[in-house]
Amino acid sequence: MPRYPDSFIDLIRERVDLVELVGRQVPLKKQGNGWLGLCPFHHEKTPSFSVRPDKGYKCFGCGVGGDAFDFVMRSRGCGFNEAVEELASLTGLPLPRTSTETPEERQRVERRQQLLELLTMVREFYRAALQAPGGASARHYLAQRGVHAQTIQREGLGYAPAGWNHLLDRFGGGDAAVELLESAGLVTRKSQGERPYDRFRDRLIFPIHDLKGRCVGFGGRLIGPGEPKYLNSPETELFQKGKLLYGLESAREAIRREGAAMVVEGYMDRLALVEHGILPVVATLGTALTADHLKLLWQHTRRIHFCFDGDAAGEKAAWRALELYFDGLEADRHADFLFLPSGEDPDQLVRREGAAGFVQRIGSAVAPVDFLVQRLSAGLHLSAPEGRAAVVHRAQPLLAKVRDPLLRELYLETLGQRLQLPIPWVQGANRVHPAGPRVGQPPPQRVPVTRRAGTAARVTRQRDHEQALLALLLRHPRLVSEYEEELGRLHLENAQLAPLLTELISMASRSVRPPDHPPWAWFSNPELNRCAQDVLASEEVAPEQVEQELAGCLISVRLQALRRERLNLMRRIDLEGDQDHGLTARCRALKLEEQRMLEQKTMPPGATG
Ligand code: UTP
Ligand code: MN
Repeated sequence: MPRYPDSFIDLIRERVDLVELVGRQVPLKKQGNGWLGLCPFHHEKTPSFSVRPDKGYKCFGCGVGGDAFDFVMRSRGCGFNEAVEELASLTGLPLPRTSTETPEERQRVERRQQLLELLTMVREFYRAALQAPGGASARHYLAQRGVHAQTIQREGLGYAPAGWNHLLDRFGGGDAAVELLESAGLVTRKSQGERPYDRFRDRLIFPIHDLKGRCVGFGGRLIGPGEPKYLNSPETELFQKGKLLYGLESAREAIRREGAAMVVEGYMDRLALVEHGILPVVATLGTALTADHLKLLWQHTRRIHFCFDGDAAGEKAAWRALELYFDGLEADRHADFLFLPSGEDPDQLVRREGAAGFVQRIGSAVAPVDFLVQRLSAGLHLSAPEGRAAVVHRAQPLLAKVRDPLLRELYLETLGQRLQLPIPWVQGANRVHPAGPRVGQPPPQRVPVTRRAGTAARVTRQRDHEQALLALLLRHPRLVSEYEEELGRLHLENAQLAPLLTELISMASRSVRPPDHPPWAWFSNPELNRCAQDVLASEEVAPEQVEQELAGCLISVRLQALRRERLNLMRRIDLEGDQDHGLTARCRALKLEEQRMLEQKTMPPGATG
């Protein structure tokens, strides 16, 4: 719904200079009455993108066109209201109060603005500190790692000086200012009521920007030895690791120009590549890749190179990326996977082999289907029929996620070719899905906790409700005590999530309040922490939908458990028969219970209970 009055939109339209706006992204040349350049929305070698200040923009190659608002929406991948806001700020027009806006909303917008301004000032403070005499050790560190002035400048790198009170001294005048610093995650306290202190101390600072180019948080690397090596801003309304990629704003132009983006794991990996002139690179912020990350990238390019470290974590991350890639994949989107030699990361590699060597490696990246076959055939003999059949079965749940039917068929075809199987066999195996015993799951230790092959063997694209449930509970621990009884009755299928749930319930029943640090550092058992971290890589639910989502998850998880039990019974009946019809009766009862729950699930919220 349009949030701003037409008169305001017209005002912007009058003020905005389309040629200048487009020209920020696309080099334009004067031609007749208008301007011409290479279309930023499709890949072309000769310019067919025309801009006329009076008429708007139009590409004669791919056909897109529109006005300034449309241009911002298309290039940012945002909605109309956001485009209005961006153009208003660009033309220096203050946003009008809107009739539908409540005072609370207004307050939120203003507060957000204050936070953003603070973050920008702090970024500049860190930048200056890197150049000041006190920044000598940080400059020395960067030089030693081969990061030079131009990259430092380009990426806005900074230094958070040693000491506890720099930000408080400079920006912390008054309670309100301290509160703002705390909300932005820039200062922190040991516990409520104690004195706040600077979060980042004696660290190299990597500013992190959102797509509008606004600084929303920081990453910091220790210069000396110590723990943790890297520290990020805490999750806030503005800073969500699952939705941000380091360097995207700065790499956008290059991504568009090259028609491809590369994803690496570390800040320093990205910087090393940039230093070597490989610019279209972004890095995740120390978390697994999320669906949101991928969505963000697809807004900018149709080609992604995933590059993961040559270690166990890197391989796990690659598999996760592959799953996300298949999930809902559409035609004309390509990804490939670059595997680095064992124990190496892009930073080390590009320094050793240079830009040319690294680019050559990109050329030998592995296609998704090949990665799939390679990974799923681990431990199998592909020369034996059983081995090849197992790979086909293992591939099923993943390929079933590909939405475009033609693309799916083409993948199946390639799979057949790689396994030297007649293609109709592979396709046939993917169409018929007996609810029988699950065939060949990938080796369990290599499968990310977030999507176990077990549940995915049913081919419908179903959400992982168990994981969604755990994510809710970790983000809103109060729910655990509120629903303790109900949660206690659940039987989770996922063998990694079950102990996590048990531990959460046990914490709640002992009235242990979760400690202040992030939920993935709550538990003394590192396995649980790792599992929690995986779970939290998922998308977050809007606060007003939390209760409803929880109710939905509870039903779905119970429903899944009922189905599982019923399938097991059916399998037993198959194998052992059912002389006195006891098992069959039990099956029927379960089926009835399922139906009852399904009805409950489809009832409108509030009508339950
Ligand atoms: P790595 O441990 O692979 O380090 O972390 P790196 O990138 O090679 O770092 P250098 O070369 O030693 O400087 C990869 C990424 O994981 C996150 C960071 O985002 C880092 O860039 N990370 C790592 C953390 O968030 N915290 C840590 O303590 C370590
Ligand atoms: Mn490294």
